[in-house]
Amino acid sequence: MYSNKFGRIMFGLCCRNPAAVYGVVQRAAGRSGSSWTAVCKQRTLRRSAGPEVERRHGARSASQSTVDPDEVRRFQSLAGKWWDEQGEFAALHAMNDLRVPFIRDNLLNVHRARHPGKPLAGLRILDVGCGGGLLTEPLGRLGANMLGVDPVEDSIGTAQLHCSYDPDLRDRVSYRTVTLEELSAEGEGEPGGQRAALFDAVVASEVVEHLADLETFAFCCSHVLKPGGSLFITTINKTNLSYALGIIVAEQLLHIVPSGTHDWEKFISPEELERLLESNGFSVQSVQGMLYNPVSGAWSWTNSTAINYALHAVKLREQSEDSRPGPEEPAAAAHG
Ligand SMILES: C[S@@+](CC[C@H](N)C(=O)[O-])C[C@H]1O[C@@H](n2cnc3c(N)ncnc32)[C@H](O)[C@@H]1O
Repeated sequence: MYSNKFGRIMFGLCCRNPAAVYGVVQRAAGRSGSSWTAVCKQRTLRRSAGPEVERRHGARSASQSTVDPDEVRRFQSLAGKWWDEQGEFAALHAMNDLRVPFIRDNLLNVHRARHPGKPLAGLRILDVGCGGGLLTEPLGRLGANMLGVDPVEDSIGTAQLHCSYDPDLRDRVSYRTVTLEELSAEGEGEPGGQRAALFDAVVASEVVEHLADLETFAFCCSHVLKPGGSLFITTINKTNLSYALGIIVAEQLLHIVPSGTHDWEKFISPEELERLLESNGFSVQSVQGMLYNPVSGAWSWTNSTAINYALHAVKLREQSEDSRPGPEEPAAAAHG
């Protein structure tokens, strides 16, 4: 899924008429999948579920695990290949053209840039499932204080080594082999309380489709984010088209990626992801479709979220006790 081998093979298949093949993919993308058709569907902040969410989840601890051992083994075997721009992760390198501006611009809508050339300076961002740091590094170069975490120790080793080559990143980017739930639980039980709400933003790019437990993921993201903080996710929709292209074509027919790289059952639609996030105290701000062109190896924004999409959500701010509505009063909108 991440390799431009797909591009090379598709190029071979479609060089007689590449535009037609690409058009078929685009039309199919438009047909299948969800009703999310706007390139950037701006969402009105929902009436606050904040206190209710707090009541429901207040007693919950991050005891469940997001880790699927099979996934960890799979990424362990690829841990030395992260920075090969033509290799298994070529499509992730190319995705930076979309996801870095998506994250930067949405953050700049909320936080004013204070340093010319380093627009994200002063922001603390957690990159969950950072792998070799393909997305962590460019965000660090924009000035953000980055922590990349991943359960695969060798990927973290690769990320640390690569980062050490750039003196500009040394003080701003760090990596740890730790899970989100372990990070979220740190400081709990110590005198002085919980060390949650640390980050201005959490990024999980091409990660949620590899997790064992999405509910725990959403809960922990909320736990480590400051109120009003942003969550950025890119992932794969659960549609016929994503099954056809991502599993049948890429894995089983053309053997572009090893069979079993993706489990369609773990894909999630934008609607389901939104429901999950809203039940964990988030408000989804925008969902944008993304399309990979296997011929050029480039990504572009698209109206359809039938295959890949990017999502931006904001953690709702807690309402104070005084301002909470009574049972008959409508809840006031909480702005993240
Ligand atoms: C497709 S890669 C994406 C890497 C990186 N986010 C990027 O886009 O360049 C998926 C990553 O998720 C990591 N991962 C797997 N299970 C995870 C978990 N439970 N928590 C955090 N990361 C996990 C893998 O080790 C791998 O690095």
